[in-house]
Amino acid sequence: MGTLNIEELLNQMTIEEKASLCSGADFWHTEVIERLGLPAAMLSDGPHGLRKQDKTADHLGTGESIKAVCFPTASAMACSFDRELIYNVGSALGEECQAENVNVLLGPGINMKRSPLCGRNFEYYSEDPCLAGELGAAFVNGVQSQGAGTSLKHFAANSQEWRRMSISSEVDERTLREIYLAAFEKTVKKAQPWTIMCSYNKINGTYSCENDWLLNKVLRDEWGFEGLVMTDWGAMNNRIEALKAGLDLEMPSSHGETDKLITAAVKDGSLPAEVLDKAVKRVLELVDKSITNKRHASYNKEEHHSLVKKTAINSAVLLKNNGVLPLSGNENIAIIGQFADIPRIQGGGSSHINCFKTESALQALDNAVNAKYTYSQGYATDKDETGTVLLEEALQNAAAADVAVIFAGLPESFESEGFDRTHLNMPECQNHLIEEIYKVQKNIVIVLHNGSPVAMPWLDKAGAVLEMYLAGQASGAAAVDLLFGRANPSGKLAETFPLRLEDNPSYLNFPGSRDKVRYSEGVFIGYRYYDKKHMDVLFPFGYGLSYTTFRYSNLRIETGGVVANNCPGTIPKIQDTDQVKVYVDITNTGNMAGAEIVQLYVKNFIGLENR
Ligand code: BGC
Repeated sequence: MGTLNIEELLNQMTIEEKASLCSGADFWHTEVIERLGLPAAMLSDGPHGLRKQDKTADHLGTGESIKAVCFPTASAMACSFDRELIYNVGSALGEECQAENVNVLLGPGINMKRSPLCGRNFEYYSEDPCLAGELGAAFVNGVQSQGAGTSLKHFAANSQEWRRMSISSEVDERTLREIYLAAFEKTVKKAQPWTIMCSYNKINGTYSCENDWLLNKVLRDEWGFEGLVMTDWGAMNNRIEALKAGLDLEMPSSHGETDKLITAAVKDGSLPAEVLDKAVKRVLELVDKSITNKRHASYNKEEHHSLVKKTAINSAVLLKNNGVLPLSGNENIAIIGQFADIPRIQGGGSSHINCFKTESALQALDNAVNAKYTYSQGYATDKDETGTVLLEEALQNAAAADVAVIFAGLPESFESEGFDRTHLNMPECQNHLIEEIYKVQKNIVIVLHNGSPVAMPWLDKAGAVLEMYLAGQASGAAAVDLLFGRANPSGKLAETFPLRLEDNPSYLNFPGSRDKVRYSEGVFIGYRYYDKKHMDVLFPFGYGLSYTTFRYSNLRIETGGVVANNCPGTIPKIQDTDQVKVYVDITNTGNMAGAEIVQLYVKNFIGLENR
């Protein structure tokens, strides 16, 4: 039961008042109608923390926002493959929204990682729509369990930053439905986000925000989406066409400009009044949900910080280990690299969180581990230049130690919302540092902070590589627990790390030319392509090592109520309509506690038996 009488409100409103509700009051609020006692709903970024702006307002992440908690970014969290964990992160964020009077959190972002170069890949989960959809649904259900809404973004085919306001993603319908829309479909069907945010780009020549096929037919009629569709900030092009296509709310405010257009169009008959009413009704429903679900809440920042740490630990991926990890704690350790002191914990742009605190690896070492270590900065992140003094100091410490742990990765200037990368390289000064350290110390562990895949020219020289991604404000503490074996790295990659950029299936058509980008590789995105072509990669999708070992046994497939044991070998014929359940027993056969992610890949064999 709602709070507002929506039918009554619609009856009482003038056309002008209705038109005014179709765009924001300002940067973050829907419009109020004082005469009718209609309050505003507040929207804030998202996705991996709350960027609530009280004073300034911007969608670039440059202005001030309230102190909040920075969780691991989507690219990190996805490696946990863990719906429950991500639900809990969502739920914590929902609590923060309630405490800060925010009604809708602008996230999650579930676009597909078509190219490892997309500047916003850190905000997205995966190159696999099934994984992204499952995790997206878990996140939405988590936030919404607390009575706060979400905005699933950026709908759709928005897999690059280059010319993001004008590019047309040229994608055939099968590829759209199976890859670029599939995660949205899953999330909508499993979680009914309160809102969806329409992307800046065009799809096959039509702006997403004006796309009747996308919004009215696919999203609403086919998938049964019940909520409101809003624009990305500043994505509005033709307000009247957008309303007809099912785009309800323009954000931020148009300062009355589009209100006038809407009013005039209804009056001259070019916009049917029912179309406007539908959009206004959805805005009213959003405000109603916001009022009805409002709770008086507070949250414990330290508890959320602990959840950040747990999430970062469960998401980290051990990419290589010759046995140097976990560290025993008895070694003399040379900690090297500025990220050990000032970790890169999140990406740049509209998702940028003003953390209430950050825990670096150095702090965690001092607080919690009785380790003998030296620290050298090694490199600076503000310019890609080898500093002789920094290098010398690092070399001396490395030579005198039993092991060098080098914190490396991408500085913010290398990847952010607003631009795409042009290569996979880490700063040359960092690659050089690793090569030089190897000359004086053969025992090297690399800890990586990056939002998306990097080239690792030094890989054969590293004894171990721990991929932390951008793991939120407790990332240093999480890394230290993993390095010393207080926790097991149990994450698996949610995307492929290619050997070379040129190997990526989108390479010839990314980021496009003029105002078009052709998705010519079709459904062969990420591992679907590398697998089909039998290509070697640096690290495949689903890859991740562990400090412990697992035995898989007793695989069973249940279909149509019949269980087949001893699979493979006796796989029952599966009918189209059957629900298939697969069971397997997992036993930890190693010496420490750890989690295992079971992955099952299926394909349609009909007519493909010999391929
Ligand atoms: C971003 C959105 C964000 C919005 C509001 C836009 O630039 O694309 O993801 O939610 O700004 O800050």
